[in-house]
Amino acid sequence: MDKFLIRGGKPLNGKVEISGAKNSALPCLAATLLTPETVTLHNVPYVKDLITQRRLLEDLGATVLTPELHTQKIKAKNIEIFEAPYELVKTMRASVLALGPLLGRFGQAKVSLPGGCAIGTRPIDLHLKAFEQLGATVSLESGDVVARAPKGRLIGADTYFEKVSVTGTENVMMAAVLAKGITTIHNAAREPEIEDLAELLNKMGAKISSAGTDTIKIEGVEGLNGTEHSIIPDRIETGTFIVAAAITNGELEISKCQPKHLEAVIGKLRETGVEITELDETTIFVKRNGSQLNAKDVTTQPHPDFPTDMQAQYMALMTQAEGESTIVETIFENRFMHVSELKRMGANIHTSGNTAIVDGKTRLMGAKVQASDLRASASLVLAGLCAEGETIIDRVYHIDRGYEMIVQKLRNIGANIERVSDSMAMSAE
Ligand code: UD1
Repeated sequence: MDKFLIRGGKPLNGKVEISGAKNSALPCLAATLLTPETVTLHNVPYVKDLITQRRLLEDLGATVLTPELHTQKIKAKNIEIFEAPYELVKTMRASVLALGPLLGRFGQAKVSLPGGCAIGTRPIDLHLKAFEQLGATVSLESGDVVARAPKGRLIGADTYFEKVSVTGTENVMMAAVLAKGITTIHNAAREPEIEDLAELLNKMGAKISSAGTDTIKIEGVEGLNGTEHSIIPDRIETGTFIVAAAITNGELEISKCQPKHLEAVIGKLRETGVEITELDETTIFVKRNGSQLNAKDVTTQPHPDFPTDMQAQYMALMTQAEGESTIVETIFENRFMHVSELKRMGANIHTSGNTAIVDGKTRLMGAKVQASDLRASASLVLAGLCAEGETIIDRVYHIDRGYEMIVQKLRNIGANIERVSDSMAMSAE
């Protein structure tokens, strides 16, 4: 198992380019199941979750060609299997995104019920309820969710999400584009990834309006066609690099990003004292300039508010801010796994339920720590970059799921970080 070895304390300076958004590429790949024609997706990040999603499409019978590293040409003409198996769902929950398109196009889908994961139970009950509202019958058979559309086609309907769900909204959008009649999704997620998926689906011939608002309208069509689409930049990777500049007291030009997709994050970081300048629509310049960081409270909420996927990185930054910051996690019930590791490095953090109080500023010291999920890993990398001495982060396969070439990107801007195998990490101690 690989580890990261970081020798911290160096400011990061230079330029970094943002990759395509993992959380947009995942549903967009699933959407290719909706047509027998070829869909070409550009700017797909080369990360583990996308390799898993590609494998799922191939297992179902699709042909996936990758003419370039970041371009995938997918033809789902001969789909013979309508099932996302347990082996894939257990490694990547987003494989449940196959449900909507399979049910929409073929009137049947089976997906292993995702179990608990590091950040909480994460059920898919709301996805299933919405499918039922579209006329599907849903049953649980030996741990698998089996959904069927009577007479092979879903029927457009009013659907309502009791809780905002990103993949739930995406799944229902993909199921409804080929349904008979009009579907309305109430209390829909408003994340930029939803808009990106809607844009792709509309290019394929779907009739979706108001994606990006909390009420999405979908007029079902008879069939969809092939198209080309470029995935939006990853807003969480962007936010992570902004924090990297701030926490190391460096200066970074971050390009190929979409600052408008992370206004809440940029706004909050500016409040803490980080200087963020928009050079143009897709480039920002971040610097700390030696100035003091101020502790500011944050509460995670669905988009357009502060994203849960930036909570762990923000917490790492708050260990370097003067004063007390209260961080409230409202999306997932168990998303403070990084706290114990940050404390091992010297952070002063107290948690109670879904609230963490960070008392800064503390001197972080390198330590042996363990990554528990994707964004928790990012926060440990950030902490390691500003800590004194050597940090060894174990279980970095979590970070490989969602950050493209993280080690190379950080090294290019001056970080002292390397990926080491188990035996090398031992000798480095
Ligand atoms: C997506 C993102 C993930 C991000 C999360 C919240 C992808 C692939 N992943 O995950 O990175 O952290 O949004 O922004 O896009 N819930 C239910 N029942 C359901 C569905 C959700 O109770 O049927 C709950 C979840 O447990 C959670 C909340 O609703 O507490 C939000 O989850 P959701 O938006 O669905 O997260 P994901 O789509 O899984």
